[in-house]
Amino acid sequence: MKLYHVEIPNMASFVISQLTESDIEEIDRVEKNTWPIDWQAPKEKFQARIKMFPAGVFGLSKNDKLVGVTTSMRINFDPNKINDYHKTWDEITGNGFIDTHEPDGNTLYVVSVGVQRESQGKGYGQQLVAKQFELAKSLGCKYLMLGARLPKFRDSLTTQGINPDNLSTPELIQKAQEYLQLKRADNLRQEPEIRFYEKCGLTVLKLTDPDFGPDPESCNFGVIMLAEV
Ligand SMILES: CC(C)(COP(=O)(O)OP(=O)(O)OC[C@H]1O[C@@H](n2cnc3c(N)ncnc32)[C@H](O)[C@@H]1OP(=O)(O)O)[C@@H](O)C(=O)NCCC(=O)NCCS
Repeated sequence: MKLYHVEIPNMASFVISQLTESDIEEIDRVEKNTWPIDWQAPKEKFQARIKMFPAGVFGLSKNDKLVGVTTSMRINFDPNKINDYHKTWDEITGNGFIDTHEPDGNTLYVVSVGVQRESQGKGYGQQLVAKQFELAKSLGCKYLMLGARLPKFRDSLTTQGINPDNLSTPELIQKAQEYLQLKRADNLRQEPEIRFYEKCGLTVLKLTDPDFGPDPESCNFGVIMLAEV
């Protein structure tokens, strides 16, 4: 593991490092402890990301044990053309292999952020995104961008007695837009993933078409989120 950055204020026992090919088994262990089986990226995708854009692969370790991983790539993006932007996550990331990486891209696109289950909710995810911001700045990128999920959207419909599979596409889009706007009593976003990325400094640019998945929990929607670096 190549040491990249040692100190996180008030969280001195954590280390964020740039990961390399030699970390692949540990990356794989964290991936398996983060996502359900259908969502786990195979080792080959992480190997491809390390090969294509090694600078964008970071891990967070506690007591010398990897607990979270984030990966990124560069793309060219023009927020003024957001209405014409309909790329899916697979299209942007080359199905997770990032052969679509543009070395001179003006935007750092965060491909993945994952913290293993037993380590979630302790601030590690925010630290990993902060590391990607730091990288974006050091590369001179203008934007940091990602496609977020809406993992609680399907649940929110079913608890209202609505079967999303019975809705027409316009009805589903309307429901997703309403869901995205929901706030908690503390005025933070109700959807935990969007709330997470807003706390990290990103803002919602737009709800995608319902083809950003496949992602049944999000009814195949995604949310394009952006920050100026
Ligand atoms: C989403 C994720 C990266 C956040 O990392 P984390 O270290 O748990 O998050 P932090 O402690 O920095 O921040 C906590 C916030 O993350 C969000 N969050 C926590 N667990 C989450 C989960 N399982 N799914 C989505 N968001 C979650 C919440 O907004 C939470 O804030 P709250 O305390 O107001 O509820 C992590 O929970 C995770 O890996 N989840 C599964 C994989 C995933 O959904 N990755 C993101 C898409 S690529």
